[in-house]
Amino acid sequence: MPVITNIEDLRVLAEKRVPRMFYDYADCGSWTESTYRANESDFQSIKLRQRVAINMEHRSTRTQLVGQDVAMPVALAPVGSTGMQHADGEILAARAAEKFGVPFTLSTMSICSIEDVAANTTRPFWFQLYVMRDRGFIERLIARAQAANCSALVLTLDLQILAQRNKDLKNGLSVPVKPTLSSLLNLMTKPRWCLGMAGTRRRQFGNIVGHVSGVDDVSSLSEWTTRQFDPTLNWADVEWIKKRWGGKLILKGIQDVEDARLAVNSGADALIVSNHGGRQLDGAESSIRALPAIVDAVGKQIEVHMDGGIRSGQDVLKARALGAQGVYIGRSYIYGLGAMGEAGVTKSLEIIHKELDITMAFCGRTDINTVDKSILLTGSYPT
Ligand SMILES: Cc1cc2nc3c(=O)[nH]c(=O)nc-3n(C[C@H](O)[C@H](O)[C@H](O)COP(=O)(O)O)c2cc1C
Repeated sequence: MPVITNIEDLRVLAEKRVPRMFYDYADCGSWTESTYRANESDFQSIKLRQRVAINMEHRSTRTQLVGQDVAMPVALAPVGSTGMQHADGEILAARAAEKFGVPFTLSTMSICSIEDVAANTTRPFWFQLYVMRDRGFIERLIARAQAANCSALVLTLDLQILAQRNKDLKNGLSVPVKPTLSSLLNLMTKPRWCLGMAGTRRRQFGNIVGHVSGVDDVSSLSEWTTRQFDPTLNWADVEWIKKRWGGKLILKGIQDVEDARLAVNSGADALIVSNHGGRQLDGAESSIRALPAIVDAVGKQIEVHMDGGIRSGQDVLKARALGAQGVYIGRSYIYGLGAMGEAGVTKSLEIIHKELDITMAFCGRTDINTVDKSILLTGSYPT
């Protein structure tokens, strides 16, 4: 077993252990993947100011996200098909998050259902909603999230239609999966993953199968999902969902100042500056570059979060310095899960927490709530 010291180590181990088609599903962006790459690389040009001889003995990364206490300003992002990275993936990730004291967000397109995750955890998690054409299904989904005591609804706005991901097409990743010969041969080199999958009954989209009339097997599911993502989604739908939900509402997928203003008007509690991890509009600006203008425009009226490219505690600190109250990690914990199951998700959180805690101190701050732009080198960050 290799010594794991950073997120890249988890990625390398996940690449070894997760079947190629599911590993590629996570480690890819749309079309040329330019936005996917920019999300990560744009963090590198932002420089921190090194401060010394400041008492850094007692430190805290504790803060709040939408009024809820968190151990650090990091949440687990909604990731579809997490249960294909590792058997029972959503339950394992949710458990790791609750032990660490950070929010876990369950995707609409999860393998383990809302009820299943609730039954296997002890604290409320967050639920991410995709708007489908079948509004009866959406109503029932919202009611199920309420019944499961979910403490925030993350409404994703940037997936009305789907971009193209070349790796998925080449690997035959679709619903149902149409594996290529090379994907099948690759499966045989992942005995640990196969054993896990053989030992679980959770292998379909748990929030959908059995909850929509006529969708009870893989081919009816395929037919249903391809026609369900709703291209007509608009701000009136956001208002309707806000009313039905009645709890904390977070709008995900805002990259433009105009949309950020509309998000404020909608009465949502928070917005997430996000380009879906570079999986939708290829050519969009990286999230960390889009963040400052949005904070400038609406940061006093709504809580601003961000995601995209967070691979270290230093990245978390930079996002926080640029005005994000919190960030979400997607691939950073997905790699941990694929590498080592629940222990891997915990490891990813420990790595990021330690990097955040120590880096904050090197910048002369001992409380995450006092971090602002002044810890950054002027001229090195987007304004
Ligand atoms: C494999 C994968 C699946 C995803 N599925 C969803 C999803 O079901 N719902 C959603 O709102 N976002 C989804 N996202 C986007 C993430 O929530 C998040 O915006 C993104 O992963 C952040 O970028 P990062 O992976 O660089 O941290 C997915 C991302 C990945 C990598």
